[in-house]
Amino acid sequence: MIGAMRPVIIAANWKMNTTPADAGDLARAIAGRTREPDVVRVICPPYVCLAAVRDAVAGEGIGVGAQNVHQELAGAHTGEVSAPMLAGLATWVILGHSERRRDAGESDALVGRKLGRAVEAGLRPILCVGEQLAEREAGQAVAVVERQLAGALAGHDPATLLAAGLVIAYEPVWAIGTGRNASGADAAAMAEAIRAALRASGWGTGADDVPILYGGSCTSANIAEFLAEPSIDGALVGGASLKPDEMAGMVGRAAITAAARRAAGA
Ligand code: 13P
Repeated sequence: MIGAMRPVIIAANWKMNTTPADAGDLARAIAGRTREPDVVRVICPPYVCLAAVRDAVAGEGIGVGAQNVHQELAGAHTGEVSAPMLAGLATWVILGHSERRRDAGESDALVGRKLGRAVEAGLRPILCVGEQLAEREAGQAVAVVERQLAGALAGHDPATLLAAGLVIAYEPVWAIGTGRNASGADAAAMAEAIRAALRASGWGTGADDVPILYGGSCTSANIAEFLAEPSIDGALVGGASLKPDEMAGMVGRAAITAAARRAAGA
C-alpha cells in the first residue's frame, strides 16, 4: 500500500485534564466543529471521563481511547485499569507515552506487554516512541526510536498488529508541551526510519500500512508542515486538543490531506 492510501488521523490526548462534569461538553464542542468524514478522529480523555466522552460523541464517528492500560488482566494492582475493563468505554489506547515512561518508569518491554493486552482486548493501539533532547543532540534519535520499537514489538506477530490497526506516534520528548515543535522534514525522516526499522524486523511491505503520527506542540498553525509530508499520517495532540477552535483547524487541514490521498489513490 502506498502512503496515499493510509488514513489521516487526528488523535487528542487530553492527558490529566478535564473532569466527568466538563469532559462531555468539551467532546461535544469538538465533535461539532470537526465533522470531516475522511479524517479519523480520536479523543483520549482520562479514564474517569471515558463514559462521559463516549456518551457525548455517540453517533459522531469519533473514536474514544484510553491513555494507558495495565499489563495484567486482573488482580492485586491497586489503582490500575486492565484492558478488559475498558470494554464498552474505549476502542483505542495510547501506549508508552513519554510521560508514562517518565512518571511510571515504563520500560520498552513493559510497553510491549501492554501492547499484547490491548490487542487481545480488541483495542486499537497508538504506540508512542521518541527521543530526549540530549539523545537528538548526540545524533542518537534514530537509534533510540529503533530500540523503543524493538523492545515493544518483540514477540508480537506483525500480521496480528496490522490486523489490530497499530498506529505509531513519533513524539520527540523535547517537543512535548514546550511550544518547540520538530520540523516537518525531521519528523518525516523519523517516520521513514520507523518504517525502515519495521521492514528490517520482518514486517515487509506491512510497514507501509502502519499509520505514523507526529506529536509534540502540534497546533492548527503548524500542522500543515507535518501533513505536507507523505510519510506522516496525522497528529497526536496534547495541549491544543483541549481547544475546539484548535481541533477544528487541525482536523480541517487534515481533511485536505485526506482528500488529496483519496484522489491520488483513486
Ligand atoms: P503537546 O501537544 O501538548 O505538546 O503534547 C503532545 C503529546 O504528548 C501528545 O501525546
